[in-house]
Amino acid sequence: MRIERARGTRDFLPEEMKKRRIMEERMREIAERWGYEEIRTPTFELAELFTLKSGEAILEEMYEFKDKGGRHLALRPELTAPVIRMYVNELKMAPKPTKVYYFGNCFRYEEPQRARYREFWQFGAEIIGSDRPEAQAEIIALAFYCLKSLGIKAELHVGHVGLIRERLRAANVGNDETNRVMRLIDKGERESVIEFLNGIGAKKELIDALICLVDLKGRDALKEARERNIVGSDSDALKELEMLLEILDYYGVQFTLNLGIARGLDYYTGMVFEIYEVGGRLGAQNQICGGGSYQLAALFGGDDTPSTGFAFGFDRLAEIFLPETMHPESMKVVVIPIRGDRDVMKESVKIASKLREFFPTYIDVMSRSLSAQLSYAAAIHASFAVLVGKNEIKEGKVTLRNLNTGEQEKMSVEECVERIKAF
Ligand code: HAM
Repeated sequence: MRIERARGTRDFLPEEMKKRRIMEERMREIAERWGYEEIRTPTFELAELFTLKSGEAILEEMYEFKDKGGRHLALRPELTAPVIRMYVNELKMAPKPTKVYYFGNCFRYEEPQRARYREFWQFGAEIIGSDRPEAQAEIIALAFYCLKSLGIKAELHVGHVGLIRERLRAANVGNDETNRVMRLIDKGERESVIEFLNGIGAKKELIDALICLVDLKGRDALKEARERNIVGSDSDALKELEMLLEILDYYGVQFTLNLGIARGLDYYTGMVFEIYEVGGRLGAQNQICGGGSYQLAALFGGDDTPSTGFAFGFDRLAEIFLPETMHPESMKVVVIPIRGDRDVMKESVKIASKLREFFPTYIDVMSRSLSAQLSYAAAIHASFAVLVGKNEIKEGKVTLRNLNTGEQEKMSVEECVERIKAF
């Protein structure tokens, strides 16, 4: 019986894994150079870690289950809440800001489609302990440099949920209703925003101001918001956003101001940003990165700890990362024991171990004939075969065969290493 993969999951074949490793290493290197340290959290958590902020409705979008001990668990749908839980439990005393990065799989029970999976990977970073414009700008610039290291061109949109939240708070709209409005804005459902606000008795003036805010885009949006009195000139959110934009200029990061970004997750309190791929290769799922400032630590039993972070959709990046930026494949060497008695095998294993210090090295594990081993070497596109027979052992040498030219010569293992290296 053929067993299919679970819906929304993927297998990664060696070529794809090579590409993903290269990407992962480049992004890791950038994060480390910016002073971030890697952490890892469990694949599953107590489900309440994710429902505390977002409510039970979020369970619909998660893989959640009871374990044999009756505990309510969930496969992580994202990594920010786990990272902050870990911070509260283990890292509270670390110097602030605490700067971490992570790479891990996440699970969301969504309708699978192109670039949207039920198991996907995120590469992300968090500055725990600051949501100041300096931290916001650093996080955005870090994301920007990660993309640069992959040669991916993209468009960055920056907003601030504080502007909308401030406006709703001033009109005495409650927290739950505000979260609801944010989610509708995030989905781009403008009619539903108006309908919902009408439903809770909001004044026309408030509704008009919100719709205006959501529509404001481009560098002049802030000036416009102030001039049209949509945002008060004493707004903290506005001042913060202005300072952030100035620091982004210092970093040389280009952006589009977009006050309509609301983000799907409930925990954002300030700056929010999204990065979209340009070129249409991802179809509708073109958001490759999302992030912003948030407060979660107090909710998980810690002190109030403003934080800022982002996460890349790694699979989406992998789909647009161009293979020509990949390293050339490394040279393969095959050690061939001729007539596999014990002595020949013993010597071959020793020689393979030596060669593995320098090159990807293969050795026969199927007790095959010389010609079958040579055919295998050709099939995997090996560059050299190192033949080991009784005569070679007697002379303390090996026979190095260049598989492209067919030329061969006896030499010591050390010479063999030098010869292959020189090649
Ligand atoms: P998010 O926008 O929900 O934010 O996810 C981050 C990225 O993960 C998205 O921009 C997208 O590229 C990718 N992604 C999301 N869902 C899927 C899916 N089903 N299949 C493939 N890729 C997907 C967060 O998760 C926040 N924790 C980011 C953050 C970190 N905010 C502050 N710190």
